Amino acid sequence: MPSIDLTGKAAVVTGSGRGLGLAYAHALAAHGASVVVNDIDEAVAEAAVKSITEAGGTAVAEVVPVGTTEAAERLVNRAVEEFGRLDILVTNAGILRDKVLWKMTDEDFDAVITTHLKGTFTCARAAAVRMREQGEGGTLILVGSPAGQRGNFGQTNYAAAKAGIAAFARTWSMELGRANITVNAIVPVAATAMTETIPAFAPYIEAMKNGEPLPDFLRKGEGFGTPEDCAALVPFLASEAARGVTGQAIGVGGDKVALWSHPHEIAAVYADGGWTPDTLADVWPTSVGAELQSVGIPAPKFPEA
Ligand SMILES: NC(=O)c1ccc[n+]([C@@H]2O[C@H](COP(=O)([O-])OP(=O)(O)OC[C@H]3O[C@@H](n4cnc5c(N)ncnc54)[C@H](O)[C@@H]3O)[C@@H](O)[C@H]2O)c1
Repeated sequence: MPSIDLTGKAAVVTGSGRGLGLAYAHALAAHGASVVVNDIDEAVAEAAVKSITEAGGTAVAEVVPVGTTEAAERLVNRAVEEFGRLDILVTNAGILRDKVLWKMTDEDFDAVITTHLKGTFTCARAAAVRMREQGEGGTLILVGSPAGQRGNFGQTNYAAAKAGIAAFARTWSMELGRANITVNAIVPVAATAMTETIPAFAPYIEAMKNGEPLPDFLRKGEGFGTPEDCAALVPFLASEAARGVTGQAIGVGGDKVALWSHPHEIAAVYADGGWTPDTLADVWPTSVGAELQSVGIPAPKFPEA
């Protein structure tokens, strides 16, 4: 077994005061990386630094809302000031403002796009500038979502941001390949403040909080578990063992790690000289129209009672 050693490397993890980000920060620190913990909530950021330090790791807190160039530069500068460098960025900070399209306000839309999409863009850009200057490669780990891969009822803003983030990973993996900077989107699923309100999972999360293990149909079937279950992927992607892994969308949760396919053409039909609406209508049902794709995140498959 190769042993993952990130000693001497410095990381920024946005939104790492709680939930998945906190688990990523702990996992990076446990494998030797020094971590800038970021959150908008000062109390949880400070508590995260304390718990990482008490576990023998190295961490500092930078409390700032990601979403602006200024915040991104503060985070990169903090890593450089404290640790002399930046090797790993995890753009994890996120919020939800769920509503169906016809009820979604501009504020709901802008808040989610700013935090997720612009937060990821600005932080990754600042990190890429620094990593290219260092000339020693680096790791950008972006955070997608099943909602961004598949669409999700009530999540116009979030699904668009997360789909955009998966597109960032594909695009930046090409742009940053020569600098030996890998860029992947991880697609986590875990019990956190963000998901514990999902009604179907609520009783299981409640039982888990009372010390009961999650059943196999959730851990394996749904790929759903704790934030810590998702965290192993982050030090792995930051390590030498994953240098060849870039431009991917990688699912993680519970007992499962999965690779998502990228969008690609699955059917095509041709008309010499081009199409008219009538010729399209004619061949549609027996050609590409026979391959229409499903949308949405499949409903959980609960075991039969
Ligand atoms: N929980 C899941 O199953 C799941 C599934 C798919 C994707 N994700 C994604 O994973 C990430 C973490 O989710 P989570 O479930 O741990 O959420 P969470 O709500 O438990 O934690 C998110 C953290 O980000 C912080 N934050 C919010 N806005 C911020 C900002 N502008 N700047 C800095 N910090 C900010 C919050 O204060 C909070 O501590 C998000 O990007 C989320 O979309 C989560």
